[in-house]
Amino acid sequence: MGRYIQPIFCVSFVFFLLFSVGKMEDDDVRDALVDFMNALGPPRTIQNTTNWGWNTSSDPCTNTWHGVTCDSGNKTVQKIVLEQLSLTGTLDFESLCEETSLLVLSLKFNNLTGDLSPEISNCKKLRHLYLNGNHFSGSLPDSLTGLADLKRIDISNNELDGKLPDMPRITGLLSFLAQNNRFTGQLPNFNYHQLQDFDVSNNDFSGPIPDDTGKFGANSFLGNPNLCGKKLPKACPVKKRKKNLNNILMYSGYAILGLIVLVLVSLLFLKRKEKHEDTKSVDSEKKGVNDSGISSGKNRSEFSITSAENGGVSASLVVLSSPVEAVNGMRFEDLLRAPAELMGRGKHGSLYKVIPTGGIPLVVKRIKDWDISRDEFKKRMQRIDQVKHPKVLPVVAYYCSKQEKLLVYEFQQNGSLFNLLHGSQNGQHFDWGSRLNVACGTAEALAFMHAELQNDGIAHGNIKSSNILFTQDMEVCVSEYGLMVVEDGSQKSNAFNLDVYAFGVILLELLTGKPVQSNGLDLAQWVNSVVKEEWTGEVFDKKLVVEGANEERMVALLQIALKCINGSPDVRPGIGQVAAMIVSLKEEDERSMVSSDP
Ligand SMILES: *[C@@H]1O[C@H](CO)[C@@H](O)[C@H](O)[C@H]1NC(C)=O
Ligand SMILES: *[C@@H]1O[C@H](CO)[C@@H](O)[C@H](O)[C@H]1NC(C)=O
Ligand SMILES: *[C@@H]1O[C@H](CO)[C@@H](O)[C@H](O)[C@H]1NC(C)=O
Ligand SMILES: *[C@@H]1O[C@H](CO)[C@@H](O)[C@H](O)[C@H]1NC(C)=O
Repeated sequence: MGRYIQPIFCVSFVFFLLFSVGKMEDDDVRDALVDFMNALGPPRTIQNTTNWGWNTSSDPCTNTWHGVTCDSGNKTVQKIVLEQLSLTGTLDFESLCEETSLLVLSLKFNNLTGDLSPEISNCKKLRHLYLNGNHFSGSLPDSLTGLADLKRIDISNNELDGKLPDMPRITGLLSFLAQNNRFTGQLPNFNYHQLQDFDVSNNDFSGPIPDDTGKFGANSFLGNPNLCGKKLPKACPVKKRKKNLNNILMYSGYAILGLIVLVLVSLLFLKRKEKHEDTKSVDSEKKGVNDSGISSGKNRSEFSITSAENGGVSASLVVLSSPVEAVNGMRFEDLLRAPAELMGRGKHGSLYKVIPTGGIPLVVKRIKDWDISRDEFKKRMQRIDQVKHPKVLPVVAYYCSKQEKLLVYEFQQNGSLFNLLHGSQNGQHFDWGSRLNVACGTAEALAFMHAELQNDGIAHGNIKSSNILFTQDMEVCVSEYGLMVVEDGSQKSNAFNLDVYAFGVILLELLTGKPVQSNGLDLAQWVNSVVKEEWTGEVFDKKLVVEGANEERMVALLQIALKCINGSPDVRPGIGQVAAMIVSLKEEDERSMVSSDP
């Protein structure tokens, strides 16, 4: 007996230590939060209500204080929302920002006074700050610009004055609302391309408006008697000499830009030419080998469907609709003999790039252990071949033996969506419009295939970003349709549901720019949790946000994605519905592009 007591004691002692250390830290934060609340000056009537909390004998998260939202995992305060509560005190950032994980603070429409102290920068993770509709005074602390994650700030309708700090230092800022205050000085040069909301009207700003994008109209600037600009009643004074100088600078800028473009283009041209010549010489070399080799003199069409016995195993390559001349007349052995390069190896098979002698590059998918009879496989391939969609990569030929199945596709040199999103991008930006295009094209292609093959029960079965390829013209092209019999559940309809789920994950990849599995993080799960606990805006790819992609439509696409990845398959929409939703979203996007062009 005694032997057991000691370890149990030790374990509980360790537990005790862990707990007490964890709790002590929380206590400091909790006490600081209570101080913060006391400074805010809540009226007695509120303090006496049940569930108000905000006292030192309860916990902000487990006792859910009024207006507090916590991270469900580690129980730290993430949001404090105390709006329209007739708070009449001051804002004690020194106490509040002991809670360093705070993401959202909203105290709008209260009667708070005093100034905003520099300790605000201790709330390092702050993303949303709403202090509008109070009586705050004094100037904004410079330390505010140290909040690197700040997305939206609303300090409108206060009594703030002085010069603005260098707000453009916060690179991800989406909203800046400071109207109806007493700010003075010149407007900093905001990144107007990125800003979604901007208002500095009714202050005392002076000097010229640096908004050269024309994105925000006069209403965002009016009511500053000393501010001048094209859209305001007061035009900026013109200094002739300076303007000339500006012009010269501008034109010489254009000239330099032109020169750079010219040099780049010619470099590119030269490089291409070189490459072309390289491949040419390789080709002719190969031809030389071919001509002197065994296969010389063979007429391609002669072997279009050839059947050679190879050690008892039938080695016939069945050529389907082949737009690729080179495949006609090729035999299984030719394929095996051609130099092959392993492109990838998965759970169900491998992928090779094969360049047959004198032919164009092909991709051969080798599937192992697919328990399907020869006839069934053949029927399946023929059926898929009958249904043609321009955005579905056709199978050029296939080979089937008991041990293995080979499928031949034309090689697509522009790579896959996976490469584009997660590979090295050579500095090129994959913009919102292009992503929406990919989503739309893929959905339409799948919708067509699903409708045509519903009765045959042939779904894609393995949709992922590495199976979405780009043609020479960078058109989307879905690869590997129907190569997998999905065995998740017994009903046939499940395969189609699973396709919808997988497509939803593709949408998430497009929206977040994150791969499906990074650090063991399941993308769908992550997005779900962020959407549930925090502001939806946080899930989006930073590059899209910087580009200024319309947040409303990104949210709309996210909602479509969330429908697709719904946990219960019956609730998921059909891919046809999904395609229709994305098409209308794309149309809306295109319309807005046209109308916002000057
Ligand atoms: C609130 O409670 C305190 C004591 O807890 C009491 O003295 C006070 O009268 C109460 N105020 C109101 C408005 O209920
Ligand atoms: C502290 O807050 C909790 C949670 O709202 C409440 O149940 C408790 O009565 C409060 N204690 C005091 C002393 O006000
Ligand atoms: C708690 O979790 C959130 C996200 O889940 C994280 O941002 C935060 O830093 C964590 N806080 C602590 C104190 O670990
Ligand atoms: C808040 O301020 C407004 C205007 O200054 C005043 O009319 C109102 O009574 C104040 N409310 C409280 C609760 O102090």
